Amino acid sequence: MSSHTVFRFTARNGVDNIQAFKEPIPTVGQYEILIKVRSVALNQRDVHIATDTYPLPVKEGVISGSDMAGEVAQVGDLVKGFSIGDPVLAPLNPTFLYGQLLPEHGSDTFGALRDGMLREYVVLPAHCIIKLPKSSHSFTQWAALVQSRATMWNAFYGNTVLKPGDTVLALGTGGVSMIALILAKAAGATTIITSSSDRKLELVKSRFGVDYTINYNTHPNWASEVQRITNGQGANHIIETSGVGTIGQSLESVARGGIVSVIGFMTTIPQEEMPNVAMLSLTKGCAVRGVQGGSKQQLEEAVRFVRSRELVMPVDKVFSFSRDDIVAGLKYIQSGKHIGKVCINLE
Ligand SMILES: NC(=O)c1ccc[n+]([C@@H]2O[C@H](COP(=O)([O-])OP(=O)(O)OC[C@H]3O[C@@H](n4cnc5c(N)ncnc54)[C@H](OP(=O)(O)O)[C@@H]3O)[C@@H](O)[C@H]2O)c1
Repeated sequence: MSSHTVFRFTARNGVDNIQAFKEPIPTVGQYEILIKVRSVALNQRDVHIATDTYPLPVKEGVISGSDMAGEVAQVGDLVKGFSIGDPVLAPLNPTFLYGQLLPEHGSDTFGALRDGMLREYVVLPAHCIIKLPKSSHSFTQWAALVQSRATMWNAFYGNTVLKPGDTVLALGTGGVSMIALILAKAAGATTIITSSSDRKLELVKSRFGVDYTINYNTHPNWASEVQRITNGQGANHIIETSGVGTIGQSLESVARGGIVSVIGFMTTIPQEEMPNVAMLSLTKGCAVRGVQGGSKQQLEEAVRFVRSRELVMPVDKVFSFSRDDIVAGLKYIQSGKHIGKVCINLE
């Protein structure tokens, strides 16, 4: 077989503009590995890219999808440590291997500036690939952890370290917040999740064991609920997934000396309603930290933790590798009905 199917965005004004193409399977260089893609986790980011609302540069006609789990199909002559059939992952940005995200790493990410993972085969440099340990996790489960898990590992361990006994507040029930919940619980934290839906909050409680829930529609001033739940102490770590529309209340919710990890950009508000982030953070003595993905090292550490504790990733729905199913998967994310991750399986 010399050709394979890839899915590219042909325009960026809606998720329907994704089309299948038959293209040659890339050849493997001496230091590279050919991976047979087995599962791809979709993200809100893919919807942002499809609808031209992603704030970072995107290549024209990009292959969509960034989070892949697969198996080694061919190994370059000079590669050591990998064999055909090994299960593997790749980080979101193949140049961000460790430390802080530096200008030279740019926004060189899969599914945006680089072609992504909605394809049958991908060739990658061996040094950016993570070999997965033996575990009970399926390819779908592993794919589900790539971006959200590396980002969360960066949020919890890249700066102010999460400690047992801390309180973690994560906004919403999407992929990032559900992974935050699973990681934080396993690390011994008390957890709080907000949502617009009581149904979702009940599911998050029964399935994932969150300690406290707040419906942000029923409690538009949800920061006072956080203060009530925490006896006026506030939450030590806040996973701010929704952006300027909520950061004011996130800063009202944070504990003194705590940290607000700014991750998402789902909401906007008029300029005149923008909160005074400088004054709010000064009075709380807290850190406000932008988090842009995570490094390969952070993803490796997350993989080790997930394997050692056999943590189950929150996969809501799985779709197949066809154009109609991929569009349906992206539309499902757009609908906001999901809890956790949505994946495309290639079988
Ligand atoms: N910086 C990074 O490295 C990084 C990495 C991954 C993702 N992101 C960004 O983070 C954001 C979330 O990503 P995701 O993959 O988790 O998305 P997702 O799975 O689609 O989840 C988004 C969730 O946000 C919640 N939400 C929407 N408006 C809200 C509001 N006003 N207040 C509180 N919650 C609200 C919704 O929860 P309910 O339906 O329960 O209300 C929704 O389920 C996106 O903007 C994404 O691009 C950034």
